[in-house]
Amino acid sequence: MSSTVSHPLLQNLRSSLSGYDFSPAHLLLFLSGIFAISCWAWRRSAEKKNWPSLPPGPAGLPLVGNLPFLDPELHTYFTALARMYGPVLKLQLGKKLGVVVTSPATAHEVLKDKDFTFACRKGRDVRRPRHRAAATSEIRKTVWYLRIRAGSPVNVGEQIFLTVLNVITSTLWGGTVQGEERERLGADFRQVVSDMTDLLGKPNISDFYPYLAQFDLQGIERQMKGLVKRFDQIFEQMIEKRLKMEREDRNGSLDGGEKSKDFLQFLLELKDEEDAKTHLTMTGLKALLMASFSSTHDMVVGGTDTSSNTIEFAMAEVMNKPSVLSKIQRELEAVVGKDNIVEESHIRRLPYLHAVMKETLRLHPATLLLIPHCPSANCTVGGYMVPKGSRVFINVWAIHRDPSIWSNSLEFHPERFLHSKCDYGGNDFNYMPFGAGRRICVGIAMAERMVLYSLATLFHSFDWKLPEGEKMDLTEQFGIVLKKKKLLVAIPLLRFSNPRLYE
Ligand code: HEM
Repeated sequence: MSSTVSHPLLQNLRSSLSGYDFSPAHLLLFLSGIFAISCWAWRRSAEKKNWPSLPPGPAGLPLVGNLPFLDPELHTYFTALARMYGPVLKLQLGKKLGVVVTSPATAHEVLKDKDFTFACRKGRDVRRPRHRAAATSEIRKTVWYLRIRAGSPVNVGEQIFLTVLNVITSTLWGGTVQGEERERLGADFRQVVSDMTDLLGKPNISDFYPYLAQFDLQGIERQMKGLVKRFDQIFEQMIEKRLKMEREDRNGSLDGGEKSKDFLQFLLELKDEEDAKTHLTMTGLKALLMASFSSTHDMVVGGTDTSSNTIEFAMAEVMNKPSVLSKIQRELEAVVGKDNIVEESHIRRLPYLHAVMKETLRLHPATLLLIPHCPSANCTVGGYMVPKGSRVFINVWAIHRDPSIWSNSLEFHPERFLHSKCDYGGNDFNYMPFGAGRRICVGIAMAERMVLYSLATLFHSFDWKLPEGEKMDLTEQFGIVLKKKKLLVAIPLLRFSNPRLYE
């Protein structure tokens, strides 16, 4: 058959390309290209047609979307919206799409079934902190402080915050600094941590309008860089000091006394082992230190407020329910005794106190919307389309208070956990104060020990009452970490006359 009777489209193509010298092989290649492109375009348009719709949600304004209508108490606002729009709803946050997930089934989809797409990052290599000795000695210091203040009002929240921060920082640099220097460094560090937490909690326009990020209109990026630099400087001081101590130790100027095996020590030993091969420099050591907890400031910022606010809420709830307090104290007397101080080994044998911790985390989960998860590809949740790059919030606070899951859901009732298998290991999507899946909290063991050990010590050594005329206020305030709106101020009363129990 002659080429002149070919398909009109081919004739057309041939005439428009008539200036070129095409061999049949070129033509075949060219046509295959066109065919492949058409197939791709057809599949994409078919896929688009098959994509489910976006989740429902309240109407917003052009350009700003729902931003002007957000209530600062985001958790209660999201919970109210879920009642209107269901367990998967959308909010337009400037250029970003926010998706709020409010049911165990849809949370399961995000955190388990589609964990890989939603985790935002690949696996982690997190070195778990060693913290036993630090927790014990820091909490004993707090007991000593409270003994001096016994009978007068104490800002319990602040004391707990300081204790937890000291536990975490001692884990990092242990016995490197002592006395006044330790206080000064602690104060510096506390300031950096609280500035970082405040900054992280501020709404950043760049998050909602990524193309404005380069202008850093509110200066948040610049301030954060400054804080990270201060954070770095503190670490640098610690490392230099530790290296000096090591050198002196080797020269025999120290008596070779017991070395504290803190994290910094551990890294320095690692450095020694590697030195000959890799010449780990100061910068390398610092980088190693910083990288060792996916990010050290994540650990300090993530671990301090969460643990101390949980302890504060637990104290407030227990003080508000005397029957719970007497059960805790009876358990402590049976396990620890009246002539003994609480030790780490007692912790595993306090099931009622453990139930109190779980119930506190049910009603007041510290990271109440988890850390926003963002899908790395378009996907579906609850049958709705969730586009790549959206921010997905899991409203754990609402799930933990859902009356269809929990009986008397708003009541503080630790007994519900006493003989139940319900745990926070990330397998139960009705209860997930530490999250679940790939991004689950890395500090669960540390948080558990710190919360239980602090509560056991504070309730074993002291009775607690509110200052005259005060009423317990359990109101919560939204933040990246949920906190008590009003700091807990209470009066510690000594339970034992033996001063040895307060050392
Ligand atoms: C009661 C105390 C604590 C609670 C309720 C808590 C809760 C959480 C939650 C809900 C997440 C996010 C999980 C997700 O988005 O899926 C998280 C992440 C994290 N937590 Fe905790 N946490 C606590 C204590 C700690 C402690 C003591 C540390 C440090 C030793 C710590 C370190 C971290 C880190 C580094 C992450 C980020 C993990 C990642 O995204 O890769 N947390 N935590």
